[in-house]
Amino acid sequence: ETPALIDRFGRRVDYVRLSVTDRCDFRCVYCMTEQMTFLPRRQVLSLEEIYAIGKAFTELGVKRLRLTGGEPLVRSNVMSLIEALGRLPGLNELLLTTNGAQLQKLAAPLRRAGVTRINISIDSLQPERFRRITRVGDLDRVLAGIAAAQQEDFERIRLNAVIMKGYNDDEVMALTDYALDQGLDIAFIEEMPLGEASDHKREDTVCTNDWVREQISAHYSLQASDARTAGPSKYYRVPGYDSRIGFISPMSHNFCADCNRVRVTVEGRLLLCLGNEHSSDLRSVLRRGLAEQGPAPLGDLADLEREPVSESLKQAIIAAMDLKPERHHFYEAD
Ligand code: GTP
Ligand code: 5AD
Ligand code: SF4
Repeated sequence: ETPALIDRFGRRVDYVRLSVTDRCDFRCVYCMTEQMTFLPRRQVLSLEEIYAIGKAFTELGVKRLRLTGGEPLVRSNVMSLIEALGRLPGLNELLLTTNGAQLQKLAAPLRRAGVTRINISIDSLQPERFRRITRVGDLDRVLAGIAAAQQEDFERIRLNAVIMKGYNDDEVMALTDYALDQGLDIAFIEEMPLGEASDHKREDTVCTNDWVREQISAHYSLQASDARTAGPSKYYRVPGYDSRIGFISPMSHNFCADCNRVRVTVEGRLLLCLGNEHSSDLRSVLRRGLAEQGPAPLGDLADLEREPVSESLKQAIIAAMDLKPERHHFYEAD
């Protein structure tokens, strides 16, 4: 009998987002403040601990792991973690969300490690704008990273764009045309009240995806597609092009009823929903019995691959499913 994670609302959890660092080399306005304080090292899971959590989930029937951050590729030695995760039996997809800045050197090793699809954030194709949104990012570097990824045989590469009034709302067509020309997928994402972006007022920048889609529809005939990428994106196609154009609309079209996922923060908190507090502390389960002094080296990644994951970790994950809330409450929070 295959184990499965099912929550109180009958939703099957088979997709886990693992944050591998809270750090990032960018400071996007909707995500971070200009000055950030990052977590002290002892609060951060070691690569071995992250691996143990990923392995526990796959033994509980999870088929997809998506690595996120912060920016996952700025963590030192992250490739050794990704390679080990790529060897997990039972995993159908190993996915990565990145700002693209390190892809020039890492696209090939990532593909070799077994990453199947990558999502790359890009909110503007104008260097100065790109700098204004990311505060420090270099557009050319990201474009070179995208080009490097295109040289590898990833199943799909998707661009992610958050459209904000006054920042990039006049670039919907430029971004769409770029994706279509390059044969890349693109997802337009409604800005969510997440992160620490306290110096950026969301009420001034909101754009709904219905508005974004109308801009595109004025130029292309968008055909609803039933393609799914296991995530919340609703996709369309333009006849004659390979690209899929996706819309992730957490604010205007709630998709919680179909939610199949949970997240693990780099502190080892298992978050049952993106927009809710409900969480379970996996780090304390991993470090139980050890003084809470720091990332417990659980041994070599290679050793861990041979050893069974601890039953207590699996039990903690199973128990946490009961905490998954029915839906997020972004609206009420505003
Ligand atoms: P795939 O469909 O597997 O390609 O991935 P994805 O769209 O889930 O991943 P990605 O990391 O590219 O996330 C795109 C946007 O969707 C980000 O802004 C995420 O915060 C958001 N997102 C992902 N999962 C959820 C979710 O469960 N709830 C909400 N509200 N937003 C989500
Ligand atoms: N609202 C919507 N999307 C966000 N992202 C980061 N912060 C937010 C937010 N507040 C997007 C990034 C990246 C993906 C991981 O999440 O653009 O593509
Ligand atoms: Fe970094 Fe991504 Fe946040 Fe931008 S959105 S600051 S690239 S983690």
